[in-house]
Amino acid sequence: MTVQQKSAAAGAEQHRPSNLFYLTRLRRPLIDRAEGIYMWTKDGRRFIDGSSGAMVVNVGHGNRNVIEAMKRQLDRVTFAYRLHFENEPAEELATLVASKMPGDLDRIFFVSGGSEAVESAVKLARQWAVVTGQAKRWKIIGRFPSYHGGTIGALAVTGDLALTETFAPQIREMPTVPAPTAYRDRDNLTMEQRGLRYADMLEEKILAEGPESVLAFIMEPIGGAATAALVPPDSYFPRIREICDRYGILLIHDEVMTGIGRTGRFLGGDHWGCRPDIVTLSKGIGSGYAPLGAMAASQRLVKPVLDSGGFQHGYTYAGNPLSAAAGLAVLKEIDRLGAIDNAAAMGELLKAELEGLSRRFPFIAGVRGKGLLIGADLVADPVTFQPLPKAKATNQRLLDLCYERGLIVYSRRVRGDGIESDNVILAPPLIINREQVGEMVAILGDALEVLARELELPVAA
Ligand SMILES: Cc1ncc(COP(=O)(O)O)c(C=O)c1O
Repeated sequence: MTVQQKSAAAGAEQHRPSNLFYLTRLRRPLIDRAEGIYMWTKDGRRFIDGSSGAMVVNVGHGNRNVIEAMKRQLDRVTFAYRLHFENEPAEELATLVASKMPGDLDRIFFVSGGSEAVESAVKLARQWAVVTGQAKRWKIIGRFPSYHGGTIGALAVTGDLALTETFAPQIREMPTVPAPTAYRDRDNLTMEQRGLRYADMLEEKILAEGPESVLAFIMEPIGGAATAALVPPDSYFPRIREICDRYGILLIHDEVMTGIGRTGRFLGGDHWGCRPDIVTLSKGIGSGYAPLGAMAASQRLVKPVLDSGGFQHGYTYAGNPLSAAAGLAVLKEIDRLGAIDNAAAMGELLKAELEGLSRRFPFIAGVRGKGLLIGADLVADPVTFQPLPKAKATNQRLLDLCYERGLIVYSRRVRGDGIESDNVILAPPLIINREQVGEMVAILGDALEVLARELELPVAA
């Protein structure tokens, strides 16, 4: 198909009748099938899923062992309400997840998605405080920018005005501290000094709010949608733990995007041996085969809550046998395929390639990330990180140019305190191989070439 024919086909799709309430007027082609890192549409186009959907399909598309395990479960029982029955897949999955959690986080609470996992963490923290005589604690400090989900409770701890502003009157606003974007800072400090400085901002915020009112601090150990794979300096993590301990504040690691091997370790926090009090998981645990998420916490938090009569929380589909069977098979496949080590190795390669592209296209700056969660900013000036004008709609144009060429990437414009900036994330399934990384990078390079020409962005000679 020529480019002209493709855009004609895309035009026709815009007018295909539909009763679906799509998010925007933008229409997309109908999906037909998918396998590994590739997806094919009904009209025969092939895409590389360079973002694993929304950083979901860690184990890759069409994994036969996961599908067979789900079929076996479908033939037995698909739903058994948790107040009526226990089920084996959920039991087994909880044991497996617990074995992979840091410290004593061996109580696993299942949900159906990331926002639900975050809501669960927030509610467990609060109920724990209430039943242990700390009812004054309710504030959850978050970071700016950050993303923790689309429900009202998750938005309350999310730092992205583009997503929260409209709903502000309905949201109980929570305090925030700046995300540790140390790579942007222009001062005389070392990265490690900057890491401590950002962590110390948490202590300052706790003191300003009144330590007795602060319940928890929630953070993505490696940034996701809002900060495009932001990696804090090493010094940040131990200092954050220290500060939380000093004031009796719970540390919640939102590993919805970074968990299940995405960053080359089972959890993002494992790179630093982190010991959070609560971990949230989703995305990669169901890997797109079934809606699934989880919250991991220790007995220290769970026991007093159960002793008080039980956790006042839950979702109808939570821990259903079909999703649990899918999650169990996904985790077994992640191990069998060595997907986490592969993510680490292919991530190095992909990051090096993106660094190469940033030398050729200086509007790509601050290449960062770990494993197969690699990100960068799209900027007007790579030294000052001055953002590109909104009118250029750079993030959308980059998405479109890649999409037209059969590559899906993740790109957003995030609105923070007076700054708006475009970013891009590359996050293919963890089973990608060397040649496929090359294929992705070639398409991205071609798209960037056109983007630079169209938007009159600089290109190195
Ligand atoms: C860190 C993080 N937390 C929570 C969520 C919300 O997950 P979901 O969209 O499954 O509700 C996301 C989704 O992108 C996320 O990246």
